[in-house]
Amino acid sequence: MARLKFEGIEIEATEDVDVLSALLQAGANVAFSCRIGVCQSCMLRSVKGDVPKEAQTGLRDSQISENFFLACQCVPSNDIEIERPYTTQHFLEGIVSSVDDMADGMRRLRIDAELAYRAGQYVTLWVDGQTGHRCSLASLPEANSPLEFHVKPVAGDRFSDWVTRDVNIGDTVRLQGPVGATFYVPGHTQQPIILAGTGSGLPAIYGILRDALQNAHQGDIHFLAEAQDEKDLYLRSLLSELDDGQNRFKFHHIVRPDLAEGPGIYQGAMADFIEDEFGTLAGWRSFICGDPPAVERIKKEIFLAGASLNEIHSDPYYQIGNPPGHIPSMSDSAS
Ligand code: FES
Repeated sequence: MARLKFEGIEIEATEDVDVLSALLQAGANVAFSCRIGVCQSCMLRSVKGDVPKEAQTGLRDSQISENFFLACQCVPSNDIEIERPYTTQHFLEGIVSSVDDMADGMRRLRIDAELAYRAGQYVTLWVDGQTGHRCSLASLPEANSPLEFHVKPVAGDRFSDWVTRDVNIGDTVRLQGPVGATFYVPGHTQQPIILAGTGSGLPAIYGILRDALQNAHQGDIHFLAEAQDEKDLYLRSLLSELDDGQNRFKFHHIVRPDLAEGPGIYQGAMADFIEDEFGTLAGWRSFICGDPPAVERIKKEIFLAGASLNEIHSDPYYQIGNPPGHIPSMSDSAS
């Protein structure tokens, strides 16, 4: 039996129980999402005691050397003393440079931070030790350009409340990441491309589109946005700004019948749209970002339409649960 020490509580973790489960059972307020070692939102740090190697799979060498580990994958065989990574200096600091309203009720958040990333990757933005949110990057990594995030207001969600109500220019946030392997790689410039996204993945495919256009991609590009509600229609105005009149990409909204109608809107299922619009996707390169079930479904539909699995790049976004409660200031939890 291993003893866990975490923020003043001591827990006896029974065999086969992972650290995340043990902490949650003891009432600790720790972030988590996928519980399968993918999203890294449960990352903690051992300040005393070894952690099993399998609990560090996927972490960077610098994080491993500092004893970071994934709590959901950690079943310790010895006592460990644990702290939140947020209270260390290992997350990049960013400063909110602007926040404004976008179309259809969305909010745009811009943050100044020296982050090396690719358009289409995502980061976890931490407002405090407990409030984090996976945000895909809609910006391009250009010198002196802020990071850009599109945030959908969701009632009762602490991060959303912060973006819609509490944020101030000059606020400090911390960034974890970037993560994700779904981004445009220059080359094969004549290859047709599908960019498909839902919900939180829409900013990512918007970023990938910008990257492909900036790299003068010549093949057909189709942007497929599956809208689950009115807010998911917000990209129309941004995409029309990108349209230089040379027909370099086509934009399609896939919606349920009662949601919207008009040019560029397809009422029905993604699979039906793909069949009607393309017939086959053999030879196409695809990028898919969004909620895990939607990403898996769209990936399958694109594969069944003839695309090679090697040419399908996808990132499911496992969102972090933020329990309701007080949002502490930076000084409450920073070391
Ligand atoms: S990696 Fe542990 S909750 Fe996702």
